[in-house]
Amino acid sequence: MLRFASRLALPTRRQPSAILYLAAQHRALTTSLSHVASSPFAKGSVSRTPAATVSTSTPVVSARNASTGAQALQSLSQRPPRVLVTGSLGQLGLALVNEMRTRYGVGNVVASDIRKPTAGLPIAHPEGPFVYADVMNYPLLERIIVDFQIDWVVHYSAMLSAVAEKEPARALNVNITGFQNVLELSRIHKLRLFCPSTIGAFGPQTPKINTPDLTIMNPNTIYGITKVHMELLGEYYHEKFGVDFRSARYPGILSVDTMPGGGTTDYAIDIFHHALQTNSYNCFLKPETRLPMMYISDCIEGTLQLMEAPVEKLTQRVYNMAADSFTPAELDVAIREHYAPDFQMNYVPDSRQAIADSWPASLDDSLARRDWGWKPQYDTAAMVHKMWTGIAAQYTPRPTKLEDAGELTKVTQA
Ligand SMILES: NC(=O)c1ccc[n+]([C@@H]2O[C@H](COP(=O)([O-])OP(=O)(O)OC[C@H]3O[C@@H](n4cnc5c(N)ncnc54)[C@H](O)[C@@H]3O)[C@@H](O)[C@H]2O)c1
Repeated sequence: MLRFASRLALPTRRQPSAILYLAAQHRALTTSLSHVASSPFAKGSVSRTPAATVSTSTPVVSARNASTGAQALQSLSQRPPRVLVTGSLGQLGLALVNEMRTRYGVGNVVASDIRKPTAGLPIAHPEGPFVYADVMNYPLLERIIVDFQIDWVVHYSAMLSAVAEKEPARALNVNITGFQNVLELSRIHKLRLFCPSTIGAFGPQTPKINTPDLTIMNPNTIYGITKVHMELLGEYYHEKFGVDFRSARYPGILSVDTMPGGGTTDYAIDIFHHALQTNSYNCFLKPETRLPMMYISDCIEGTLQLMEAPVEKLTQRVYNMAADSFTPAELDVAIREHYAPDFQMNYVPDSRQAIADSWPASLDDSLARRDWGWKPQYDTAAMVHKMWTGIAAQYTPRPTKLEDAGELTKVTQA
């Protein structure tokens, strides 16, 4: 077991007054979203009755592994949960579905996305159910939830920070309307709902070091605004309607098998592919940009811990979740010292630098540790080791000497 070592442990500052500001921000945001089709929220407020919008022309869902009537009669306590994962072909969804199918049974985990699973994706149980589900299509989502008798939803579909800045209108639709749809369906069908938040929910005025759960948010990106909206609305639905909404604020997630989907922490994955292919990398962040990061195994394990936690253990609905923090310069040194002495890192900051500058350098996740036993297994050194060895194995020939790294050709593309 690898030891987690936190570098930064400075005092935290709580600012409950920020919540009032956030609530106002949330109200303004929800009332402005009146143009989205295929949603019970399409023409206005959250109070519109979804039943009125469910069309009889709802697309037919392929329910090849849908549960039988006999299974339906089993009580929830006697069987594993049936889970719908949205955005399941993304960086995190693939890993989560694989782990959930191992734990809960292949047929109990319904993967969904708006893309086709392509050859080469690391899908451990390809025989499991996969359905098309656009999260903006409320009737379709409801049909899937009913057909598969879903108990839990993990809502992973989203547009991440860098791509959301380029397509703000689409990001508002996918991140806000998509979440509102699954949240309302969770209320109606009494589902447990997990939707990840992010360090991107914080902003330039947030205390940067050891950022607590409850503090000033004020994000200045579309991505962050949609995530604050998600957090507040989830908490509201929990308070008001008893929806079992749960969320963890993820840091940047590092993975070997799956490629990132357009975030600001993506450099910490790209760097390994470039180091192994060309022995050099043009980093889009400045050398001293410190951001919280986590290895994907920790992310998936922590997410399942939070999902499985008994409700009485939870003292809040949104938790910071941290592992370690590092800078591009520290990653550069770690690669040169341990794997590729001639690796050449260049710094070419772009628009993502401003996003990174608005985010915390480290998170205080003590409440997640106390309430549901969160404890990461990978510190920076362990993450770098997993990333280097795992990504090196994707290229041929496998590097036998460090100097071979520059001549490798990529053979797998997640
Ligand atoms: N990857 C990270 O480092 C990170 C960090 C913090 C938070 N998160 C959060 O975790 C979640 C998953 O992130 P990820 O990295 O896997 O993202 P990703 O971009 O890799 O995957 C997102 C998936 O959503 C799908 N999608 C897009 N629009 C959709 C729609 N309208 N309907 C259904 N699916 C749609 C995409 O096809 C894609 O497969 C997101 O909510 C993200 O904000 C990720």
